[in-house]
Amino acid sequence: MTREIFPPNPNFSQEARVNSMDAYWRLQNQALEDYEGFWRGFADEKIEWLSPYEKVLDESKAPFYEWFTKGQLNVSNQCIDRHLATQADKTAILFEGDRGEVEHISYAQLSQRVNQMANLLKEELGVAKGDRVVLYMPMIPESAYAMLACARIGAIHSIVFGGFSAEALRDRIEDAGAKVVITADGAYRKGKPYMLKSVVDNALESGSTAVSSVLVVKRNHEEINWVEGRDKCYNDLIAHHSTVCPFEPMESEDPLFLLYTSGSTGKPKGVQHTTAGYILWAQMSMEWVFDVKGDDLFWCTADIGWITGHTYIIYGPLAAGTTTVMFEGVPTYPDAGRAWKMVEEHKITQFYTAPTAIRVLHKMGEDEPSKYDLSSLKVLGTVGEPIDPPAWKWYYESVGGSHCAIVDTWWQTETGGHMISPLPGATPIKPACATFPLPGIMAEVIDSDGTPKAVGETGLLCITKPWPSMIRTIWGDPERYTKAYFSDATKAGRPVYFSGDGAVRDEAGYITITGRVDDVINVSGHRMGTAEIEAVVNEDDSVAEVAVVARPHEIKGESIFIYIVLKEGHINTDIKNHINALLAQEIGNIAKADHIIEVPGLPKTRSGKIMRRILRSIAKHEEITQDISTLEDPSIVKRIETTAREA
Ligand code: WT7
Repeated sequence: MTREIFPPNPNFSQEARVNSMDAYWRLQNQALEDYEGFWRGFADEKIEWLSPYEKVLDESKAPFYEWFTKGQLNVSNQCIDRHLATQADKTAILFEGDRGEVEHISYAQLSQRVNQMANLLKEELGVAKGDRVVLYMPMIPESAYAMLACARIGAIHSIVFGGFSAEALRDRIEDAGAKVVITADGAYRKGKPYMLKSVVDNALESGSTAVSSVLVVKRNHEEINWVEGRDKCYNDLIAHHSTVCPFEPMESEDPLFLLYTSGSTGKPKGVQHTTAGYILWAQMSMEWVFDVKGDDLFWCTADIGWITGHTYIIYGPLAAGTTTVMFEGVPTYPDAGRAWKMVEEHKITQFYTAPTAIRVLHKMGEDEPSKYDLSSLKVLGTVGEPIDPPAWKWYYESVGGSHCAIVDTWWQTETGGHMISPLPGATPIKPACATFPLPGIMAEVIDSDGTPKAVGETGLLCITKPWPSMIRTIWGDPERYTKAYFSDATKAGRPVYFSGDGAVRDEAGYITITGRVDDVINVSGHRMGTAEIEAVVNEDDSVAEVAVVARPHEIKGESIFIYIVLKEGHINTDIKNHINALLAQEIGNIAKADHIIEVPGLPKTRSGKIMRRILRSIAKHEEITQDISTLEDPSIVKRIETTAREA
């Protein structure tokens, strides 16, 4: 497949940190020749060590890698204190509310509020180093304060996206053994208040959590239920706390946060990230991929409940000392020009969003960008799912005025930061292509037996060397960590990190991501496991069997398609609404299916394995090309096809 190539903007390249492909290869070759030396150089330059590390990389317990062992640092120092001498008055966070109000929070103010919050957590709620704190928060500055306050005192935060249901929240609170939950009464979306605290109340109502306090930020001041003794009001308490809270010296490998994500099997897993390696790469990738500098204004539209929000709204931008934009609302309210209006008003220089959002903005307001002055933009980014060439083209031409690089960044919750991405001042870009691994990242496209795939052949995307910001383990389940990420590809003769994505490399070395090769579905950039959805559907008494597959969707990328076999004698006339209500209750609205159909049986091999490939083909209305003669009952395929066509 040949695609158009767009060279970097020469004016941008002139000033860029990495300004040519030669410069890129120099860095990458340096890493290839002396891997530890490469990382040592950056760790020494970027991190304010409170006490020096002993070893750059310890591989002795592979795949449980350790980076910068025994070194001491503090992430809130990295993100705040160390900038105060030079840029106390610079805006750290530019907040814009759903209804348009704007607040500039300087590094000095951020420092005060984080210190106060840290003291509040310690003194009022008894939070200590190593304790887990769950955040169920909207996109407001207090969420940033809470994250950084945890980092300051060495507590491990675990943010649960506000779209998850009470059940999903409870599962995560229990699994993490959280002591404190931080939430808000609610916030505003599309001009109207919405609520979060009630979900926390429901989550804590039953089950056996270790939560002793709930800290509530009052944002929309709607009426909420109050549990005396347990619930504490942030707004009332914060002023009583000192703006000085010395940061805890943390070891490099101390956990910084947990973030639950879905895999191809079982329940969501608590991805554990650490202190030094994570913050180093958050800052380096921020500087290389977005090339932020000076008075740049960086806006990432993600939610802090996802890894993108962690690394590229909070930790990366602040570690790099830049101004990060935090937006409470949605880019389509009050109209499809909202995002572009914000770009014009604040003179945003880097804009980072998801393909789903680009497709929605394109569809709802193709000409909206032309109504605003978007000339401040220098770099545009995408993340979360493969972007399709038409959306890419609109983004490049209509939003970027054909002068901005598009950085199509491939990475995952587990990788902590970008892995494969163009460098805006160096890489000639191709539409919808993540291009090259970043310097220091060793990516390969391999076969399931470990041999590298030939040019043009799709294979498994793997990272063949440990990197500083990688997942360290799954909280409470180290075995699952090894199995989920390192078993498939160990035949390469060394532990290789297996991403779960497919990819293909062209003759020039460009890597294009082809999507998940495992049973993970990506709906509007939200990651869900088919097994997780199936487990919920199975809870229904009338369901005998269920199989969940993804179906391509014009806007959402993928949508959920569910096949259900009912138990004998059961009739369910309203199965779609019924099952979707269950999914909303157990996981959240993001898990609702577009298609739920009742079928007479599932296509299974004689050994009882469900042939999902057939179900995927049927969901897409594709012709079945697979050999179905090995099925226990080949006639079932025709019957399912008939039902699917009618649905
Ligand atoms: C999965 C990771 C990384 C932050 C957001 C999602 C898909 C991610 C791209 C991209 C094609 C992408 C992959 C990956 N993905 N970026 N640029 N092109 N696909 O984090 O929830 O951990 O999901 O998102 O399938 O495995 P996540």
